[in-house]
Amino acid sequence: MDLTLDDVLDDAVQRLAKAARNRRCAMHTPVVGTADGDLRMMVLREASDDLATLRFHTDLRSPKAASIGDEALVSVLAYDPEARVQLRMRGRGRIEHSGPAADAAWSRTSPSSRRCYLAETGPGGALEAAGSAIPDGLSHRSPTIAETLPGRCNFAVLLIELRSLDWLRLDHAGGTRARFVRPDAGAPWQGQWIAP
Ligand SMILES: Cc1cc2nc3c(=O)[nH]c(=O)nc-3n(C[C@H](O)[C@H](O)[C@H](O)COP(=O)(O)O)c2cc1C
Repeated sequence: MDLTLDDVLDDAVQRLAKAARNRRCAMHTPVVGTADGDLRMMVLREASDDLATLRFHTDLRSPKAASIGDEALVSVLAYDPEARVQLRMRGRGRIEHSGPAADAAWSRTSPSSRRCYLAETGPGGALEAAGSAIPDGLSHRSPTIAETLPGRCNFAVLLIELRSLDWLRLDHAGGTRARFVRPDAGAPWQGQWIAP
């Protein structure tokens, strides 16, 4: 049966949803790009059913949190080497430090994952010596829930409302590629086959 644009969109939705749940998926850690030209890997925490929103977690003190702020163009690149599928996405990113999304994400974050938000120096800050800046007593054990609470002020979510999605699958016949766009996160995706 011929591949349809709906099949392709569904593939992207399923692939990202699975990657958010499963740390063994290559797309679990896509590359996130900011308008200043910087790139970094981040753990994909959630991809909504219609691909309206991607959710990531980050440290409010990190340079990307400042450069994204309330709204900025953000790109996301993911590749699944087994399926040979590349996803290139763009959207409006925003950092939320307080409010329901950040509170819910923090409450679902395990103590061991919360530990990095306890670092005394934020990401990119200078250190006297090599190390994590996590307090000495916690660098080799998971903190208790109570011990993680001071880290909440450093925790934020990055929410990306996707506006474009480029799907490319490599194969021996030359590959297949489709692009989907929409003017805002509430509008339906408009798809188009394009040359790989
Ligand atoms: C596999 C992997 C996963 C990462 N996941 C995250 C993440 O979920 N959130 C995050 O803020 N940084 C994550 N990082 C660290 C970032 O790549 C980056 O070094 C850090 O966020 C520095 O902040 P900046 O991009 O604002 O300079 C991850 C790095 C690697 C290698």
